[in-house]
Amino acid sequence: MCYAIPGRVVSVEGRSVVVEYFGERKKAYSDVSCLHPGDYVYAQGGFVIRVIPPNEAEEILAIWKETFFELQELDLRLSGISLLEGRAHRRTLLLLERVLEGRSLSREELLYLLELRSPEERELLYKVANFLRRKYLGNSCCVHGILEFSNVCHRNCLYCGISVHNRGLPRYRMTDEEILEAVREATERFGFQALVLQSGEDPGFTLSRLVALLREIRRRHAVLIFVSCGEVGLEALSELYEAGARGLLLRFETGNPSLYARLHPGFSLASRLAHIEQARNIGYIVATGALLGLPGQTPSDIVDDILLARSLSPEMYSFGPFLPHPATPLERHSPPSLEGVLNALAVIRLADPENARILVTTAFETLHPEARRLGLLAGANSFMLNVTPLRYRRSYAIYPGRAHEDESVEEQIRSTVELLLSLGRAPTDLGV
Ligand code: 5AD
Repeated sequence: MCYAIPGRVVSVEGRSVVVEYFGERKKAYSDVSCLHPGDYVYAQGGFVIRVIPPNEAEEILAIWKETFFELQELDLRLSGISLLEGRAHRRTLLLLERVLEGRSLSREELLYLLELRSPEERELLYKVANFLRRKYLGNSCCVHGILEFSNVCHRNCLYCGISVHNRGLPRYRMTDEEILEAVREATERFGFQALVLQSGEDPGFTLSRLVALLREIRRRHAVLIFVSCGEVGLEALSELYEAGARGLLLRFETGNPSLYARLHPGFSLASRLAHIEQARNIGYIVATGALLGLPGQTPSDIVDDILLARSLSPEMYSFGPFLPHPATPLERHSPPSLEGVLNALAVIRLADPENARILVTTAFETLHPEARRLGLLAGANSFMLNVTPLRYRRSYAIYPGRAHEDESVEEQIRSTVELLLSLGRAPTDLGV
């Protein structure tokens, strides 16, 4: 199974390369030395990951060639819009028209759209978001793998099912051998080009252990690794980058400092943001975002979170619903509505139309069985599939009843590819 279309290097200038895919040219940054025009490569998230032997590349391209243009055509048909369809308030139409003309909206205007309630108006908002997604980013969809290697966490986040609040949860910590084996399977057997290594803030994974693991992974595999182990420390970020990490997945959870302080007693938003900014400066690909529907969070907070995320120039936006966990202090609160989450995804697309890769999170899929399809039609264009060994998956219980908890990687791949193809999307990230 393969999640990337091989590209052909057109030109090389230092570490900057231009890669061509069926006539489309994309810029990428090369982590591979000695690239030459004509080489076939895999690129992910704007990084060239590895060179592929020409015969292997040509074989894969031959399979893709047939479907690639068909998918683009299907996507084009599904993402067409007419603002004359349906009934919408004049202000809504005016704002959506402005977005389609390529003009940006103010905070108040985005808030107005975030709060749209009528089904007709929401439908239009989603269609505009989907149109922009196709216009700027085409039909490519990132499909990364995520490996949850430890559910031990010393933090006390009020909403989180693997925080210290959950005393009854069996804790696990994968051994280095288990992690390396899971990475091997994900890359070699399933063909993932990008993997997120996620854990709680686990003192058992010291910086030196993580560094050694990353070096070993990079020695064995050409794969784009995101680290997602919470606040590791600003200096540690540099060491992890040097060891081979290229992405950081770290949500700021909420950009409202007092809400942040209430939900994370003893911790500060400033420290979290400092990590994200530092990662950006080091050169990491950044994926960040916030929880949607937290107790005490207002629509105005959510727009601010979207704008805060945008100011951090992330390659990927990760916004998902808060889901109450019975073993946490927030057990009695309600999750947000399907519409609330879809509106937020669409507004993210409107706020950052050209660059955003927007995740449909597993939490959203847990909230609603149609979340993936609806999210993809409302501006989103990425997923993460869970490659954590099944024996540990249930214990990574950040919220209850996680979608795909019992699904093998094969099943997840099959249903994802099926869905993507039905919507005219190519299960690949062509780079930026
Ligand atoms: N509902 C939804 N998402 C949650 N997370 C933690 N607890 C919950 C919950 N109850 C998210 C946090 C964290 C990510 C790994 O999981 O946003 O960044």
